Amino acid sequence: MCGIVGYLGSNKAAPVLLSKLRVLEYRGYDSAGLAVIESGRLNILKAVGKLSNLETLLQKERPTATVGIGHTRWATHGSPTDANAHPHVNHNGTLAVVHNGIIENYAELKTELQGKGYEFLSDTDTEVIVHLLSHELEKDKDILQAILRTVSQMAGAYALGIVSQTHPDRIFAVNHHYSLTVGVGDHESFLASDSAAVRQYTNKILRLAQSEVAEIKADSVRLFSFEGVENHREPISVEASAYKIDKEGYKHFLMKEIHEQPLVLRQTLSKYLVSPDKPVNFNVEDFSPELSGLYGVKMTDEEIRSIDRVQIVACGTAYHAGMVGKYVIEELCGIPVEVDIASEVRGRKLLGNNKTLTIAVSQSGETADTLAAIKDAIGNGSFTLGITNRSDSHLATLVQNLIVTECGIEVSVAATKTYAAQLVCFYLLGIYLAEIRGSITKERAKELKKGLNQVPALIELMLGREDAYRAESLKLADAQDVVFIGRGFNYPTALEGALKLKELSYIHASGYAAGELKHGPIAVLDSSVPVIAILVPGKVYEKTLSNAQESRARNARMVAVAVDGDEVAPKTFDYIFRIPVVDELLSPLVTVVPLQLMSYYIADYLGKDVDQPRNLAKSVTVE
Ligand code: F6R
Repeated sequence: MCGIVGYLGSNKAAPVLLSKLRVLEYRGYDSAGLAVIESGRLNILKAVGKLSNLETLLQKERPTATVGIGHTRWATHGSPTDANAHPHVNHNGTLAVVHNGIIENYAELKTELQGKGYEFLSDTDTEVIVHLLSHELEKDKDILQAILRTVSQMAGAYALGIVSQTHPDRIFAVNHHYSLTVGVGDHESFLASDSAAVRQYTNKILRLAQSEVAEIKADSVRLFSFEGVENHREPISVEASAYKIDKEGYKHFLMKEIHEQPLVLRQTLSKYLVSPDKPVNFNVEDFSPELSGLYGVKMTDEEIRSIDRVQIVACGTAYHAGMVGKYVIEELCGIPVEVDIASEVRGRKLLGNNKTLTIAVSQSGETADTLAAIKDAIGNGSFTLGITNRSDSHLATLVQNLIVTECGIEVSVAATKTYAAQLVCFYLLGIYLAEIRGSITKERAKELKKGLNQVPALIELMLGREDAYRAESLKLADAQDVVFIGRGFNYPTALEGALKLKELSYIHASGYAAGELKHGPIAVLDSSVPVIAILVPGKVYEKTLSNAQESRARNARMVAVAVDGDEVAPKTFDYIFRIPVVDELLSPLVTVVPLQLMSYYIADYLGKDVDQPRNLAKSVTVE
């Protein structure tokens, strides 16, 4: 949700800022803009819409400045217009600010500033910051002190980049409960919301602490607390990484990432599971120095045995992974598990104590609601565990135990491969906890580990059926509403199927526990509404089939995800996405794949923006 970048050195700033914004575009694509200091004057270049629009503008303008800040926006306050695009400037155009986050008291501050004669040109909360800073600078010219006085008046969580025409040799960064990373190069410095955009250029980084201001020059970085005390920290060395954005022949990143699932599952499995005969091991020591000591499950066996409750917090697709996690951990460990949408933890008392294990699941590790929930868990004395794809994320630094999915960067906004990898982590975690607690037999543990190792091949088999899946999918492209139903381990699959279809194709879809349909939602069914049932042999097969028959009796168009050789399904369903036979417990790893593909095919057929659906951002850093 909004990305901030900065550069200061001897190279042209605009191309560097642009390449860093490209890395951050997943955070929002409502508008993008730069503020550079060109021949002693602040020059603002911004464009509504995707980054490519700013790129076109820069090709025309060709700024030669060597210092600047930039921004990619996901609109919070004010629609995606030029006036609302960042950077925002003060009344005489000498100061520019880019902002990620929300200023909760912006309305009061705006009224006060308007009372003092400041004129506002946008609907954003950000503009308050630049006028407030300008006002504070009028009191005395020390810009650092003015920034400190400004932030002392602001409520909320935010990250800022600031550039001033009167201080062309430096940029400022402010971090208050967000993430900002400074990169230290050779006579040049970098700034970005995501360290990946810094590590493109240098492996020496400084992460801003909470409530910290950085004064960044080409040859030095000084850090200050909000009280103005200088914090002395040396940059740390991390692995530099070229950020590769390549569709590798696929039309969209989404399709590439769906196809990467067998590979990423093999990578995640091979990291934590050496052999089905050996216990799961999360404490692998091949990690960046920054996180050594954090990585892995650090709880002692005694602590694991003492756990009497598990709490899972997450949002969106990660929440669905958490729901599968609940079923798995309850089944294998016999521990009660609750799953909460992280935003629903806000304003509520998150119950927990030293016998609770709270697990936060987040691909990005930056989702504001998930971070807030895990902080509540830290506060209530729970053990904490993070499952994330970003070992360099804020979440990774908060939790006591960390499991990293080995997916590489997921570019497409809709999560696919990271969902699959989160599920695998939950299976491994369930087996790990169960082995230590003695709640699983050796034979069942071995059987599940073998089953997990076979999943990548099952997904490959399904990817070989794409033509059949595409043909079935396009039969649904005319639908206005689609209902997904599933029970047990595949109730979360129904929710995830509905979410993927909605976000990619903009077709309204809802997922229900199959048994719930008759308690209300069945009223929406008629011959225009497809019902997609997830039907896997096992404990809930018959009951799910009965629920499907109830829908058929209301003339709904019936579609199933059903296993090869299921000869009963064709009697109830008009068409079937066939999947290979799989253990019911592991089936969510398999059943979701045709639903991901179906959503892709429909969205592509309808001409939607598959990789960057409207209104969305990949990293949701506001609450
Ligand atoms: C949907 C999707 C979102 C994310 C959610 C949480 O395809 O990607 O629902 O799952 O925004 O994001 P993370 O996992 O980064 O916390």
